[in-house]
Amino acid sequence: MAPAAPFSYPHRHLLGIVGLSAEVIDELLQLSEGYVEQNRQLDKKQATLRGRTQINLFFESSTRTRTSFELAGKRLGADVINMSVEGSAIKKGETLIDTAMTLNAMHPDVLVVRHPESGAVNLLAQKVDCAVINAGDGSHEHPTQALLDALTIRRRKRSLEGLIVAICGDVRHSRVARSNIHLLNTMGAQTRVVAPPTLLPPNIDRLGVSVFHDMYEGLAGADIVMMLRLQTERMYSAYFPSLREYFRYYGLDRDKLAAAKPDALVMHPGPMNRGVEIDTELADDIDRSVIREQVEMGVAVRMACLEILAGRFDNTASGEQLAGAAK
Ligand code: CP
Repeated sequence: MAPAAPFSYPHRHLLGIVGLSAEVIDELLQLSEGYVEQNRQLDKKQATLRGRTQINLFFESSTRTRTSFELAGKRLGADVINMSVEGSAIKKGETLIDTAMTLNAMHPDVLVVRHPESGAVNLLAQKVDCAVINAGDGSHEHPTQALLDALTIRRRKRSLEGLIVAICGDVRHSRVARSNIHLLNTMGAQTRVVAPPTLLPPNIDRLGVSVFHDMYEGLAGADIVMMLRLQTERMYSAYFPSLREYFRYYGLDRDKLAAAKPDALVMHPGPMNRGVEIDTELADDIDRSVIREQVEMGVAVRMACLEILAGRFDNTASGEQLAGAAK
């Protein structure tokens, strides 16, 4: 059964991990735990969000995030609409803000938005009356990915506090890395980044991480090895000599993993470039890799986030009058 009454989430939207306290992150993870169990039952549905409308607005491709948000909303009983750029009036030149205002007029309760530009989801959130969940904006934040990663780690290692987590690869272009760094630091983990200098953002020293350029050094004694995809779609110049060379120095294989703790877990947010950032056989090793578990946790975490955010506002006509009277 799903957990009882939701905790008091102190924000209007979920736009990033920045600004979330350790208590709020912990509450979201606890709520997600209940949904992990519910999702393993034959009957996965409940009526928590019956009558609520969720619009998934994806301006960038996605398999895991979009599907899991759709499943999450449907399992909670919401009416879920999926809108992709391809079939929308954006193709006729409609702007992001006009699109948001148009959808807002249909009284959704929550918008789940992915956009290729950093900051676009925050901008959109300022224009609508409903809650907004950031499903990934440019190289800025991907908060539900960090939450599902935290849930995966916590279920395997009991606590995040004190764990050594090595985030390896294309940190420069990764919203997953940014959200994870903020979450892991907030929860008391020791966060490392391991990458060639070209694949680190200029402000990395301000993010509270230890920086390594050598995989063997960066993975030494690590509890968690989190690999990142090379985001070639965001690269406008050469960041490394060749894919072959990249795999040789930064691709995770058994030899490099041996530097980490013997029970270190291997993670990857997906989609994976097999043979580029991770050895294909290691990615499928059920004794070391929790990549499939991350996908499972994604549905539970998104159910928790939707439960907390989709039921928060009275955006009915009477609700608007009340809001107007209060101004
Ligand atoms: N991890 C992740 O965001 O995957 P998708 O791009 O498939 O949603």
